[in-house]
Amino acid sequence: MKPETPRPVHLKDYRPPGYLIDKVDLDVCLDATRTRVRSRLAVRPNPDASGRRQALRLDGEHLELDEIKLDRKPLSKKDYNLTDTSLTLAKTPAAPFTLEIVTFVNPEANKALQGLYRTNDVYCTQCEAEGFRRITYFLDRPDALATYTVRIEADPREAPVLLSNGNLLERGTLAGGKRHYAVWRDPFPKPCYLFALVGGDLSPIASTFRTMSGRTVDLAIYVEHGKEERAAWAMDSLKRAMRWDEVRFGREYDLDVFNIVAVSDFNMGAMENKGLNVFNDRLILASPETATDTIFEAIESVVAHEYFHNWTGNRITCRDWFQLCLKEGLTVFRDQEFSGDERSATVQRILDVRRLKTHQFAEDAGPLAHPVRPETYIEINNFYTPTVYEKGAEVVRMLQTLLGRELFRSGMDLYFDRHDGEAATVEEFVRCFEDASGTDLTQFRLWYAQAGTPELVCALRYDKAKKRAELDVEQVLPATPGQAHKKPMHIPLKLGLLGANGHDVSLKLDSGEEPADGTLSVTKRKQTFRFVDVPSRPVPSLLRDFSAPVNVTIDLSDRDVELLMANDSDLFNRWQAANSFAMRTLVEIVGLLAKGKSASRGARYAKALGAAVLSDELEPAYRAELLKLPTQADIARVIGKNVDPALIHRAHKRLSGLIGRTLGAQLADLYAAMAEDGPFSPDATSAGRRALRNAALTLLTARASGPDLARLSKHYFKASNMTDRAQALFLLAAHGGKAGEQALADFHDRWKGDHVVIDAWFAAQAQSPLAGTLKRVEALTHHPLFALTAPNKVRALIGTFAAANPVQFNRPDGAGYAFIANHVLELDRLNPQIAARMLGAFRSWRALETGRRGQARKALQRVARAKNLSSDVQEIVSKMLEA
Ligand code: BES
Ligand code: ZN
Repeated sequence: MKPETPRPVHLKDYRPPGYLIDKVDLDVCLDATRTRVRSRLAVRPNPDASGRRQALRLDGEHLELDEIKLDRKPLSKKDYNLTDTSLTLAKTPAAPFTLEIVTFVNPEANKALQGLYRTNDVYCTQCEAEGFRRITYFLDRPDALATYTVRIEADPREAPVLLSNGNLLERGTLAGGKRHYAVWRDPFPKPCYLFALVGGDLSPIASTFRTMSGRTVDLAIYVEHGKEERAAWAMDSLKRAMRWDEVRFGREYDLDVFNIVAVSDFNMGAMENKGLNVFNDRLILASPETATDTIFEAIESVVAHEYFHNWTGNRITCRDWFQLCLKEGLTVFRDQEFSGDERSATVQRILDVRRLKTHQFAEDAGPLAHPVRPETYIEINNFYTPTVYEKGAEVVRMLQTLLGRELFRSGMDLYFDRHDGEAATVEEFVRCFEDASGTDLTQFRLWYAQAGTPELVCALRYDKAKKRAELDVEQVLPATPGQAHKKPMHIPLKLGLLGANGHDVSLKLDSGEEPADGTLSVTKRKQTFRFVDVPSRPVPSLLRDFSAPVNVTIDLSDRDVELLMANDSDLFNRWQAANSFAMRTLVEIVGLLAKGKSASRGARYAKALGAAVLSDELEPAYRAELLKLPTQADIARVIGKNVDPALIHRAHKRLSGLIGRTLGAQLADLYAAMAEDGPFSPDATSAGRRALRNAALTLLTARASGPDLARLSKHYFKASNMTDRAQALFLLAAHGGKAGEQALADFHDRWKGDHVVIDAWFAAQAQSPLAGTLKRVEALTHHPLFALTAPNKVRALIGTFAAANPVQFNRPDGAGYAFIANHVLELDRLNPQIAARMLGAFRSWRALETGRRGQARKALQRVARAKNLSSDVQEIVSKMLEA
């Protein structure tokens, strides 16, 4: 697509821009196939740019240049050099000057969904990371900050709503009502990736927010006509997020308006454009009948995330894209803390750690491993990864753990104070915590530079005579692409020691020191911590609250694990104990199945689980998490090599069935006790009861008896909300048969008119482990409601098959791999960003057993050999095949 071979960008090559653009005036005349963009730029040479004056090189792609004027004088072709990706002026004045550029773009033809495009007849933009260059020629880099005034003109019948960043200055009609316009001005300097514009026939729900200093902000969420009521939860979430940021971080909103627009076709979840967030509509629209609790929860957290970017990302932005974790990791940390405060902190931590391990640990263990702050990239869109996001958030969390909440807050205050209005670096961020706390974070900085998941190999010795317990800790730092050898890191290890009665023994080191909050600093490759006054052999509870993104190994007996499951004062670690008990049972079953042995294991685990789940002091949402087995992908990651997904699937099924049978009576009681007939409420407590009830249902269903199936069908047809209905639909689709087909047919008939809800129907079929699934998914790609140009459809059907159906994606005949490879190639011609993401399904291919590994390699090689690959797919596929 890009005619020039993409070249890697290196962090070490960073130079400040040679020119500054202080002011941008845009005049956009919307037209479906020929939108005119007139841009007037106030430019001056950058006094901070070293060396002789450079040529002014502006980025631009897929643009039709109409005219250029420098200080009002038209330029001719010999005054500039035009390529497919740039516009360069060789000679520019030494003093400030004005550049006027007129370009045309075709929104209708834009299927990459970057720059200006149309979705459901709505004009909208997506500029992060490098989409602004598809709207006009510009310095498309995050350290070029300007203030924007934007005039939008359109046909009022087609686009009665005209929005851009900042505050509305003026609006009016033209040509006797045939055209109309709006002028928006954003007083805050921003990089162009935060620019946004929307034009369309949308309907707002409005509200207001009074900030802590008493200003009133007008809030609006724009949705499709008729969907207004479904935006109420998003609005409620927004107001709670605004208040939370004031209370927890002292951050107040800065403009007079805050707008959100929901669109149907969007590459990502949502985007934090200044004062005009744009959302994938599946993360705005929710009602009890149409959205699951998981969606309600996701809406709350994504609305908060994008709002929180106003300070962490917008007011303080990134100097360059290598600093992406500066805004994303930090903002994920903030949204996690928000969700933890709004809901259950422990359950939130469990969900966040689960996600981290499933996605980030898997990425870190494969060919796509990279540091939280990468040092080189070809296509920046490929670096919006679990490592930058989730591990990036963990690194910020470790700062909070190491410094304590108070000093952490002082560091954040200093950061906001010192860097407001700037494009900052990770280095500057960390410096704020050093300066605020007086702590040396030199070694801690390695978290940003070294890839791979550290392993803490631990052993505990007890000396009864001396009443001493010694904990040996060794850091094992696995090699990752380009990083063979690593330095020891600074790892906060929060722990407790449980006495025989299950209570915590007080922690005293032989130095006399009592580790603050039970947190040790592991800093050496090998280290021993000696605890004194330990009355009896203790059971260690390590990595409480998941204090660092590492793997811990320690030899614990079943009895030790049971003690932790029943007593650990750290509820997160109680769950962790249950989860690792399940994991080791599953790995054992897989091993036995591989040897062709009958695998009746798990009775002991099931019993311990029963005891833990029945405890009424624990909240239902937490008990639901206890009942969820590790996923098949997690089991594969822990096994690590020669992975046979079919065996893992069988092991998973066996253990679920065993739990269902062992705890049948208790689970049936829970299923009955957690039923609710009152009106639906999306709050965390009600959602927790539904989660526990559905988790019980899932395990009961695993017994696969006639009455179990009848209960499941009833659960589907009698459901009064989407949480229950979708859970039953997925289980029924996995079961297949008449009951499965009936539920799928019913769901289709109910929701075929709703493009958001119908995605669950595509996904339910794509995740079914039944043998006929691939054929069915193939057929569904021709279904009238499916479209390759709609990312949500692609994700629901093809993405679910690749990422959430381990048995059928990993068919031994390689047909699953071939299917995904074909679609990656087809998608690459439309939307490279989505195509490259789909290829991520292969990220653990090297860990497969030989047969499947060979099939996966063949599929990847076929992709690699294809002509005219985008730089997005090219970069991912070559990394996958390297090394
Ligand atoms: N800034 C991103 C959106 C984005 C990502 C734009 C990649 C361009 C390329 C936004 O803040 C974000 O992170 N969105 C996430 C959801 C969030 C809650 C983690 C997303 O879209 O998945
Ligand atoms: Zn973000």
